[in-house]
Amino acid sequence: MIAIYPGSFDPITLGHLDIIQRGSRLFEQVIVAVLRNPNKIPLFTVQQRIEQIRLATRHLTNIEIDSFNGLTVNYAQKRQAGVLLRGLRAISDFEVELQMAHTNKTISTQIETVFLATSNEYSFLSSSVVKEIARFGGSVDHLVPPHVALDIYKCYNHNSPMENPITTEATPPLKSIPTDLEA
Ligand code: PNS
Repeated sequence: MIAIYPGSFDPITLGHLDIIQRGSRLFEQVIVAVLRNPNKIPLFTVQQRIEQIRLATRHLTNIEIDSFNGLTVNYAQKRQAGVLLRGLRAISDFEVELQMAHTNKTISTQIETVFLATSNEYSFLSSSVVKEIARFGGSVDHLVPPHVALDIYKCYNHNSPMENPITTEATPPLKSIPTDLEA
């Protein structure tokens, strides 16, 4: 069975990679399909995103990376895929994803949507979160593959991510705040 894993992937995150890796163990082939969306202004071009995904998945043998226009189910039919693979992080995802799955079912009854629960450590992670952190100078090294982090830093013009890391350690310890007792 061939599965399509459709998305924007602007950029691919470790959460996406987790779904791709687990999907590759469940299906004969997983086609990671980047939507060419004229309604969104992306950070990376489709070609850049394809290249980022290619590098991130080169250790997997049954992955293909492609791009598509229009309806995902039409693309799935063209590629003779039986499944649309999607990750679920939270209840908020579920509402949107269920609506999308139902809508897709009205267009083609042949194609099933299969949801994989995102691994716990990535349950908060999205491409938007990554871009938000990077935009304000934070490190995204723990959220995306290393080559993607470098691409992101180039986009936001900061070459040294560790100059301005966002970590819990950066929070000043409470005892450094003077209190009446210390005075
Ligand atoms: O990574 P994203 O942005 O959550 O992916 C959303 C995507 C690309 C899967 C979805 O927007 C999509 O399938 N778009 C193509 C148009 C389509 O098929 N729409 C019908 C489903 S509502």
